[in-house]
Amino acid sequence: MTDLQLGGKSFTKELDVTVEQWHGLLDLAAALKAERRSGHERSRLRDKNLALIFAKSSTRTRCAFEVAAHEQGAHVTYLDPSGSQMGHKESVKDTGRVLGRMFDGIEYRGFSQASVEELATSSGVPVWNGLTDEWHPTQSLCDMLTMLEHTDKPADQICFAYVGDAHNNTANSLLVAGAMMGMDVRMVSPTELRNPDHVADIATGIASTTGARILQTSDTAQGVAGADYVYTDVWLSMGEPEAAWDERIALLSDYQVNAELLAMTGNPDVKFMHCLPAFHDRKTEVGDHIFQRTGRTCLEVTDEVFESEHSIVFDQAENRMHTIKAVLVATLETR
Ligand code: CP
Ligand code: NVA
Repeated sequence: MTDLQLGGKSFTKELDVTVEQWHGLLDLAAALKAERRSGHERSRLRDKNLALIFAKSSTRTRCAFEVAAHEQGAHVTYLDPSGSQMGHKESVKDTGRVLGRMFDGIEYRGFSQASVEELATSSGVPVWNGLTDEWHPTQSLCDMLTMLEHTDKPADQICFAYVGDAHNNTANSLLVAGAMMGMDVRMVSPTELRNPDHVADIATGIASTTGARILQTSDTAQGVAGADYVYTDVWLSMGEPEAAWDERIALLSDYQVNAELLAMTGNPDVKFMHCLPAFHDRKTEVGDHIFQRTGRTCLEVTDEVFESEHSIVFDQAENRMHTIKAVLVATLETR
């Protein structure tokens, strides 16, 4: 496996790596996935110690870091949303200076992007962004591997349409990652919920070198036409006020991923993606609460689409582990 020159480096957002390193991480993830499936996985991170800080809740990201670390021989210490002094009694900077003395690397999920970057600077060890309000780079890396796996097309011929709240972490990361891959990228949302201008500008700059095509539109028919993948995320992200649900539902109900919207792609083989968790039924506290108030049984995606043959969401979820493992190996392995 080739040296990506990422040893000792942090991964706080897609822009921390070059386009070549990004492709290298995807190749490494695919190789590690194949090696695991062969039953002969080599431990490259034996006795490394990793801190996993979660200021917001998580299923996939936490489990992916823990399993990836264990399979590569590393140990993890999990700090839950209230389980450390950080933020309450100790600054991010001081926390980083402490953890950097003990750990070989730190995962951070939280609110501000500034915090994860401060942690990287102050700790002096690799820091990985497990989601902030602005970026979700381990998610977009996973999503790109998943798209490559589910088509015979080269990356620069793949078209994906992200439909829904484009003003969130997942959408920002997908836009920039799609630009890095040279893809045909459609961000389909109401004008009020477009990616922030600075993110769109970054993606446009990258696209000028990779050949990516970028469309931001509020027109769902135009946005999804010809798409290989339709992707959505929750309409209200962690950290946003619950009081905003009604406004979001009003803004986004025309952007629900349902059978009609998939048909608008004109592609009978279109695949459906979602970073998860998803509100596709009433079987969650939030989903049931919204049903009680609005009569809606689903939000960003219908149960019909979620459970259909188009849906590749669980292949996608598995790939969180393989891609996070690639990030750990590339930044921590000592040769
Ligand atoms: N997709 C994702 O980040 O899931 P979790 O919130 O469960 O980690
Ligand atoms: N945009 C979502 C992603 C969850 C994985 C959130 O931040 O809540």
